[in-house]
Amino acid sequence: MSNRLFTFSGGDTGPWQIVSMTAVFGDSLPEATRLTVASGSTDSTTADAKWCLRGITSNERYVTRLEKDQLVAKQAGLGRPEAICAALIPIRKKPSWWVLPQDERRRILEECSQHVAIGMKYLPAVARRLHHCRDLGEQEPFDFLTWFEYTASDTAAFDDLVAQLRASEEWTYVEREADIRLVRE
Ligand code: HEM
Repeated sequence: MSNRLFTFSGGDTGPWQIVSMTAVFGDSLPEATRLTVASGSTDSTTADAKWCLRGITSNERYVTRLEKDQLVAKQAGLGRPEAICAALIPIRKKPSWWVLPQDERRRILEECSQHVAIGMKYLPAVARRLHHCRDLGEQEPFDFLTWFEYTASDTAAFDDLVAQLRASEEWTYVEREADIRLVRE
């Protein structure tokens, strides 16, 4: 699992400078000035961390074949030199989401909320990686760690994207969400 495991550590060190931390729903995270994103297990880099969030990449749950092909054709990878802005948005959904069967969750995510269709419009400007936390155990405070990278000039577009998703039916199932914006130096 180690190459699918990522650790996000907020503290006073790391290549990403935290420019803002907002509590969208529920409690925020302790104040930090810098972020380290590490692959795998990270005991050494987390020594001075104020908080530490872990997630694993996984198989997709909801996308259709057509959506998957369109996403793969359009999306950009992480680490583009010009994409110096990033957002870490940890999210926890309500128990009422998790008791739903798969087909109802898909219907809410896409047929009602157009999550994939809306998101697709922002590719390839916004690069993303979705991490799942639930299967790591009870102690993880979020269900998902979402990570996005974009250029400074795409910041307003990213804000539009987030606003559209937050206005959707899917987001009525969100009970905790933090929005952490970063710049790489
Ligand atoms: C899930 C696409 C932006 C939060 C997904 C999935 C896709 C997707 C395809 C479903 C994966 C699966 O089948 O399991 C996109 C695209 C975006 C975008 C193309 C454009 C950049 C965002 C943003 C947020 C977000 C801005 C947060 C504000 C999530 C979350 C999930 C998710 C939390 C997991 C939902 C769940 O499994 O219940 N996204 N997304 N996405 N996305 Fe996005």
